[in-house]
Amino acid sequence: MAGKIPQDFINELLSRIDIINIIDAYVPLKKTGRNHKACCPFHDEKTPSFSVNQEKQFYYCFGCNANGTAITFLMEHLHMGFIEAIEDLAARAGMEVPRDAGNTSDANIQSKKLYELMELVNNFYLEQLENNKNSKTVHKYLHERNINKEVVTEFQLGYAPPGWDNIVSELGKSDESIKNLLSIGVIIENDRGGYYDRFRDRLIFPIRDQRNRVIGFGGRVLDDGVPKYLNSPETPIFQKGRELYGLSQARKALKNFNEIYIVEGYMDVIALAQYGIKNVVACLGTAATAEHLEKMFRITNKLVFCFDGDTAGKKAAWRALENSLTLLRNGRQVHFIFLPDNEDPDSFVRENGKESFLSTKMLVPLSEFLFNSISQKINLEILEGRSEMINKTLPYLNKLPPDPYKDIIVKELSKITSYEINDIKNQLSKAIDLNPKTINKKNSNTKQEKGIEKIRWLIRCLLHQPKLALNVNVTNSLSSIESPGIVFLCEMIGFIKKNPDITLAGILENWRDTKFQKRLFELASDENEFKEIGVTEEVFVDAINGLIVGNEKKFETFKTKKSPVELTEKEREKYREMQKTSEN
Ligand code: CTP
Ligand code: MN
Repeated sequence: MAGKIPQDFINELLSRIDIINIIDAYVPLKKTGRNHKACCPFHDEKTPSFSVNQEKQFYYCFGCNANGTAITFLMEHLHMGFIEAIEDLAARAGMEVPRDAGNTSDANIQSKKLYELMELVNNFYLEQLENNKNSKTVHKYLHERNINKEVVTEFQLGYAPPGWDNIVSELGKSDESIKNLLSIGVIIENDRGGYYDRFRDRLIFPIRDQRNRVIGFGGRVLDDGVPKYLNSPETPIFQKGRELYGLSQARKALKNFNEIYIVEGYMDVIALAQYGIKNVVACLGTAATAEHLEKMFRITNKLVFCFDGDTAGKKAAWRALENSLTLLRNGRQVHFIFLPDNEDPDSFVRENGKESFLSTKMLVPLSEFLFNSISQKINLEILEGRSEMINKTLPYLNKLPPDPYKDIIVKELSKITSYEINDIKNQLSKAIDLNPKTINKKNSNTKQEKGIEKIRWLIRCLLHQPKLALNVNVTNSLSSIESPGIVFLCEMIGFIKKNPDITLAGILENWRDTKFQKRLFELASDENEFKEIGVTEEVFVDAINGLIVGNEKKFETFKTKKSPVELTEKEREKYREMQKTSEN
């Protein structure tokens, strides 16, 4: 696959397809007013809150905030990669996807090389599992652990043979390839400037990302040696806090997920898969981060953490609880499975079978885990204990977003402690007010912040009514304003002028994979704005002019009220800059 897909092609493609037809094929839509509606495919619901807008070529769910373009839909609903989604749409529109090799950035070319090299290394390990003269030991190991051929194939388990220079001699034939092998972490430089293989005589677990690219490896010893596991270090293409082992295979195996099980180890994922439980991922030996959780909540509403029955497992579960609280809204649920001591999901499923593992009796809901853990050492019979319970629980409740779930938990705390619901709510709002961050926020509603707020509003208007940009003829004066967001606003106006028929979807796709993507999708799907924003040209142009006039006034203040000697160095610099732009 050569080169990046030119943005112009994506714009053209989006203008030729219709998001309504695309989505309707998977989720039958019903026209109601301006929008097309359906029950949301991204979360469970009985009344439709999933809404698709033809004019904007954008979908949005009022229930779970899922949102995006036709491209996003194929990526999220059908688990396609970006390129795959583009190719799919192009095929429907009868268009050929061009590759704009000349424009591909160096960084892209470089990371593409790393991904390709990863694939070669992976193939090498796969091949060694079959053909290496020492592979008997690893086959014996797999046999002893009852790991069958199907999962070995499904998860592409491999073998890093004994020896210090297998990878270098196989794949490190030039200086550049050595540099790249170092960069992906499969070889290590020694003191004498030589290189050696990171993984030696180990069973290899390739780690794939959501787009099914190999991004790292885990390697297990075949005996009681230490360390038991070696993993790829963080590399330009591998960040542990983001990736979930097994997700790529799970998405391949399943269309829909009722829930996702999160386990600790590679072996747990493999064993459960072997027993037909495919909706399982592992966090690669780290705590589940908010990013991990968000990723999974985009796929399903119900997460089940299943940790080993030891103290470390309990601690990991508590961290998972803490990291998930802020995300619990719109029917999202978190449960825990606590296995008996000295068991992990791997051993448990082998001893007790699939049904026992999946039994709902195993599940401890987050609320129960929370209350039980806190009340463990508290005597709720006495009022001192009940007040301790309230005080210890409030900080956790405070993390919950406003949602019926929060209300129910408050109600439960009230039941446990015989403390009135309203009093708990009162304490909660007090606790929020005492939070130094929010106090600062309240007081810092400065002019600058108001300016930023205005720019954000303008950007939002343009997203929903791109044509407004066509009347803006003052981008020069606009671009001289010094405020975060201005450069972006000007860029967006320029982009729309070049593509006067662009839709919301087209704008969003133009900034995909940039640092603006997240904010833009958020602004695009802001609930009220999505309903209809309806800003007239006059209001919009007035607001733009208001920004410019405000800026000129600042300039006047500099000119008249202060002599240059009274200005600070920073102000002087700004003054000079303003003079420059006003001369142009
Ligand atoms: N882990 C690691 N480095 C170690 C030990 C563990 O990276 N030295 C990570 C691995 O991702 C491992 C997970 O933590 O899969 C869980 O560890 P553990 O429960 O010890 O391993 P299992 O996956 O259960 O492997 P096995 O059954 O072979 O002991
Ligand atoms: Mn284990």
